[in-house]
Amino acid sequence: MSATMSDLLLDWYDRHARRLPWRVSTGERPDPYRVWLSEVMLQQTTTAAVAPYFAAFTARWPTVEALAAAPEEAVMAAWAGLGYYSRARNLVKAARAVADLGGFPDTEAGLRALPGVGDYTAAAVAAIAFGRRAVVIDANVERVVARLYAIATPLPGARKAIRVAADTITPGKRAGDFAQAMMDLGATICTARDAKCLLCPLQSACAARALGDPLRFPVKAVK
Ligand code: ADE
Ligand code: SF4
Repeated sequence: MSATMSDLLLDWYDRHARRLPWRVSTGERPDPYRVWLSEVMLQQTTTAAVAPYFAAFTARWPTVEALAAAPEEAVMAAWAGLGYYSRARNLVKAARAVADLGGFPDTEAGLRALPGVGDYTAAAVAAIAFGRRAVVIDANVERVVARLYAIATPLPGARKAIRVAADTITPGKRAGDFAQAMMDLGATICTARDAKCLLCPLQSACAARALGDPLRFPVKAVK
């Protein structure tokens, strides 16, 4: 049997994963607190901007119980510069809810019920922290999938087809590594302005590359 897309991608991730501060070596289970905190910080902010804030938060509040016990003003002050301050308010609320629950929920639905945790964040934390098979779609993943399947429907209408395709290629094992590998591929190789197909582990399986015009995807609606 030829290797599946997820095999090709996970093999690439084992060699090329970005060393980001909230990641642990592949095969290790990361701390759900660190995964959740990083994903909330990354919702509207780049990895480079998040890194120093993630380091400061985890040094000052090493556990979700510590964060739950912090005064809201202290957390707001530490968040200054990251923007979208409702995230910081929800962060404190969610930390208190988790402390009351005695730990993080380990399902997508349970995580989704926490303040500030939307569909994307719930899927990301379920996959990365708990190894759940969840379909994790951010802007990078959306672009990569639209290209892999040469999805011709314009955004935002294409989102349904993108979700179906992403679900098809998501593996049952290593779903968290798979999600982060898709993000890394979109951030470094299959970028919005450039598709470095010759460096791509999925080049043999990619429909947009076969069509010779990867940057056409995802198709944008004409305004
Ligand atoms: N963007 C959002 N979550 C991420 C993650 N876990 N790794 C890299 N980029 C991300
Ligand atoms: Fe993107 Fe090219 Fe890889 Fe296709 S082959 S996923 S267009 S980098």
